[in-house]
Amino acid sequence: MSTPSNYVLGQSTHEYERLMLQGRLLRPYTEKYFRAAGVTPGMRVLDLGSGMGDVALLAADIVGPSGRVVGLDPDAAALKRAAERTIEQGCSSWVSFQAFNLEDFTTTELFDAVIGRYILLYQPDAGATIRQLTKFLKPGGIVVFHELDFPDPHASYPPCELFDQVYRLVGEAFRRAGAPPDFGRRVGKAFLDAGLPFPTIVADSIIGGGRGSYVYRWVSNTLMSVAPRLKDLGIEVPPGLVIDSELADRVEAAVVAAGSQILAPTQYGAWARKPL
Ligand SMILES: C[S@@+](CC[C@H](N)C(=O)[O-])C[C@H]1O[C@@H](n2cnc3c(N)ncnc32)[C@H](O)[C@@H]1O
Repeated sequence: MSTPSNYVLGQSTHEYERLMLQGRLLRPYTEKYFRAAGVTPGMRVLDLGSGMGDVALLAADIVGPSGRVVGLDPDAAALKRAAERTIEQGCSSWVSFQAFNLEDFTTTELFDAVIGRYILLYQPDAGATIRQLTKFLKPGGIVVFHELDFPDPHASYPPCELFDQVYRLVGEAFRRAGAPPDFGRRVGKAFLDAGLPFPTIVADSIIGGGRGSYVYRWVSNTLMSVAPRLKDLGIEVPPGLVIDSELADRVEAAVVAAGSQILAPTQYGAWARKPL
């Protein structure tokens, strides 16, 4: 089963590794949003766009063995690894995955929470997606999403041209593929379009700089994942910019040499309850 064409990150071993790295970096933010939304032990949770399973594994820790987590994604290879990870982490008896495109999923089960991270921006009509999936949510149930926003063309100060180029290319690839890189600021409207109350929305900025910041690898690895799509999307790589596994090291050296402070994507948490 294939992912939608605007899913610009693709399906590769590199991307699967990148997702797990990203999962480790983002876990504290996602956990904060889920707990603030009211996800608690014993809940039945539906995770939209599970990928390598990082969000489902986090939800599994929160709901515990008296709860249940079902994760959806069309990428069967990623879900196979996600299922193995539930065995490794001892939660396979309350976490399962199903290979589905969100629009095709159906069940007779009613969940206590519908959750997801970095999934709404890939949907052609995020409100319609939420509306469709919250059919499987009980009245009063929780809807909580973690999304992002990275539209700034000058993400470093003092300017570091290499970092800004990498950051701009990633944003442009998302934009041209049809996945808005500024989705975070659209999340409130998506809830309203879904027929839900306006959500509580919080945002966290991640700022990097200096030696050892994880932002270099995160942003550079994301560019590596989208690189195979750049030509088709009509995006030219600036002369001299080489997209390879040493890019993160070169970005780090350039940022440190410029003494720059760098802006990583802003994280958005948004949550509401389905009306009774
Ligand atoms: C950026 S990854 C995030 C994975 C996971 N939520 C996380 O944060 O680690 C987005 C995932 O959404 C999935 N996806 C995108 N569009 C989808 C759709 N229409 N239905 C189901 N899954 C979808 C992709 O296959 C991919 O695994």
